[in-house]
Amino acid sequence: MTQSLTIRRPDDFHLHLRDGAMLQGVLPETARHFARAIIMPNLVPPVVTAKDAAAYRDRILAALPEGARFEPLMTLYLTEGTDPADIAAAHASGLVKAVKLYPAGATTNSHSGVRDFDKVRGVLEKMAEIGLPLCVHGEVTDPAVDIFDREAVFIDRVLDPIRRATPGLRVVMEHITTEEGVAYARSGGDDLGATITTHHLIINRNHILAGGIRPHYYCLPVAKREKHRLALRAAATSGEARFFLGTDSAPHVDALKEHACGCAGCFTATNTMALLAHVFEEEGALDRLEAYVSLNGAAFYRLLPNEGTITLTKAGPAEWPAKILTGAGPVTVFDPGFPVHWHVET
Ligand code: DOR
Ligand code: ZN
Repeated sequence: MTQSLTIRRPDDFHLHLRDGAMLQGVLPETARHFARAIIMPNLVPPVVTAKDAAAYRDRILAALPEGARFEPLMTLYLTEGTDPADIAAAHASGLVKAVKLYPAGATTNSHSGVRDFDKVRGVLEKMAEIGLPLCVHGEVTDPAVDIFDREAVFIDRVLDPIRRATPGLRVVMEHITTEEGVAYARSGGDDLGATITTHHLIINRNHILAGGIRPHYYCLPVAKREKHRLALRAAATSGEARFFLGTDSAPHVDALKEHACGCAGCFTATNTMALLAHVFEEEGALDRLEAYVSLNGAAFYRLLPNEGTITLTKAGPAEWPAKILTGAGPVTVFDPGFPVHWHVET
């Protein structure tokens, strides 16, 4: 029997598009299925001011394939020098939909991030006042903290104190990877949301390290042990409004992934929707896929859901290219390691 499911066109609430030849190469992969995406600002140099965001938005729109309909939702990179007035003006104009907090040194291109959280207090208070969400990369950078504990420690040491000190601040816990992250997200009200990536629903830390080191499964936050993956699956498929898709699809060319010091990031833009249909079917939750990919995130960001639809069909084995050949070099598409039978018709 052919199974098929039609849902509103989805959005990706956490995406890396990069710039230049890489942007040109990867943007069609997202625009094919997704109507909108929250665009991460960790370029080199980062997208810090409203002026930077406007220029980056123009470059994204110029890189869209002919006839594609896709709206980039821009973000600003929070630094210790960020001006609350610039942020407020960028929000009021409709250009900027969120501000991204990277603890300095936590991940790719995060060295301009925040070291002293007291220095951004004024910005956070302004954001709470105007309802502009803060997207948080939730990992401490303290070298004394084990990499597998960095998310849970961040919640206690940084996130909870920030939220207590800034009532009304709307926060998205980005790419949560632990049961502690799921529990903390559930402890908040409608001012707290959490994104979960596609790959963290599929791999645990064994996939990266057992039987050989697999650099294409290395991302940050790093995948954790199996009980955490199961907690993420339960959260994503629960239908709860606070959980929504942010793929964190993060392209790096193969030469920099397959390296003595490989870059962090899984590239899932190409096959995310097929993989999610597979995961939701396994969890008996296909009827909740639309909430996760098309409704919950839009509601958190106070956007209307998309008008268009996509149809997912279960048929023969799904195929996608092993690599996307960009002008910057080849980018390996995330391999779930099992056959998938879901196809997206647009
Ligand atoms: O795996 C990741 N890759 N995690 C991040 O936080 C950043 C991203 C990137 O920009 O490559
Ligand atoms: Zn990211």
